[in-house]
Amino acid sequence: MRHPTDFYPTPHSIIASLLHNLNWENINAWEPCAGDGRFANAIQQCYNVNVLSHDINNGYDFFEWEVARRPDIITNPPFKCIRQFIDHAFHIGVRRMALICPERLWACQKGYEQKQRHNPSRFINLTWREDYLNKGGSPDRALAISIWDRPHSVHTSYEVWDRPG
Ligand SMILES: C[S@@+](CC[C@H](N)C(=O)[O-])C[C@H]1O[C@@H](n2cnc3c(N)ncnc32)[C@H](O)[C@@H]1O
Repeated sequence: MRHPTDFYPTPHSIIASLLHNLNWENINAWEPCAGDGRFANAIQQCYNVNVLSHDINNGYDFFEWEVARRPDIITNPPFKCIRQFIDHAFHIGVRRMALICPERLWACQKGYEQKQRHNPSRFINLTWREDYLNKGGSPDRALAISIWDRPHSVHTSYEVWDRPG
């Protein structure tokens, strides 16, 4: 059964890879779906910056924010509402965003339409899979990463990252 609030902590290998390759300057980060805090802690350690963290389990529903608390979101949001999450983030003024996402986020009609509104700067497939759903055995789903250097880019650069050594 799926967790009611999609509490599936991000595998450390994927966090490390994202932070290593992000290339943003002057990060002012918000982790609005922080879960156990592992992503926020890693951002803090990697860039030596303070990170603002919230989660619905601490009483902060992302969809209730009317103004972005910080300009840069870095998170793994609940996939069951990831499209609303993307639209809402830019609606409330987020300027840059890096999201863990399903590998087929853009490969469907709704994805196509959302890409017209908020085309990401980068889309990344990963060469490895992690059992982030804790199902046991070989993971059948791959995670990917979408990065917006601004709310809408003219072009999306496609990348494939290998597992960090
Ligand atoms: C896939 S988990 C990822 C947790 C963490 N970001 C990480 O990378 O390990 C998604 C998180 O989103 C939180 N969440 C779900 N719906 C939310 C909402 N409407 N507003 C804020 N947080 C929410 C869940 O409680 C859960 O901690």
